[in-house]
Amino acid sequence: MIQAIRGLQWLSRLIGACELTLGLVIWFVGVSSVTLHILLGSALALILLIIGVIALPIKETRSLGVIGILYAAILPGFGMVQMSLLIGSLHWLVQLLHLLIGVGAIAVVHLIGARYLKLKRTGGPAVQPVVPQSTSLAASEEA
Ligand code: HEM
Repeated sequence: MIQAIRGLQWLSRLIGACELTLGLVIWFVGVSSVTLHILLGSALALILLIIGVIALPIKETRSLGVIGILYAAILPGFGMVQMSLLIGSLHWLVQLLHLLIGVGAIAVVHLIGARYLKLKRTGGPAVQPVVPQSTSLAASEEA
């Protein structure tokens, strides 16, 4: 699972950089690469969902997991409706909010991953509700 988390973090960084570049191109150059941008954004939402679900069973990362899952809905949700919001001179506010939500998505993936990996490294309390308390997370992961 540690490798999976590291892989998801790495992938989110790569997709995030592409998304940011594509988004800024759409914004300032006006070239239409929106379809690719939406596809990559959906992949990022999927990463959020996966890492959120991985974090759910562990008490210490559960709340972050819930945030990740909610964020996985908010990111594409806002992305798809933003074009119809605040049409006019204030639309830049919507664009800025979309940019912040996008960058936030990458941050959430990293936050969840970092918390999870820290727990693994320290072999922390990480008690799973359905697993007997004597079974440490590290042991269950290595199995
Ligand atoms: C599923 C996720 C996403 C969807 C559905 C989505 C959708 C869109 C759409 C439709 C546009 C074009 C808006 C227009 O033509 O007015 C756009 C633009 C943009 N996106 Fe995304 N996006 C997503 C994720 C992201 C992420 C992760 C980032 C940044 C890391 C980002 C940054 C931008 C920027 C900077 C723009 C240009 C400014 C703007 O029009 O808002 N987007 N996005």
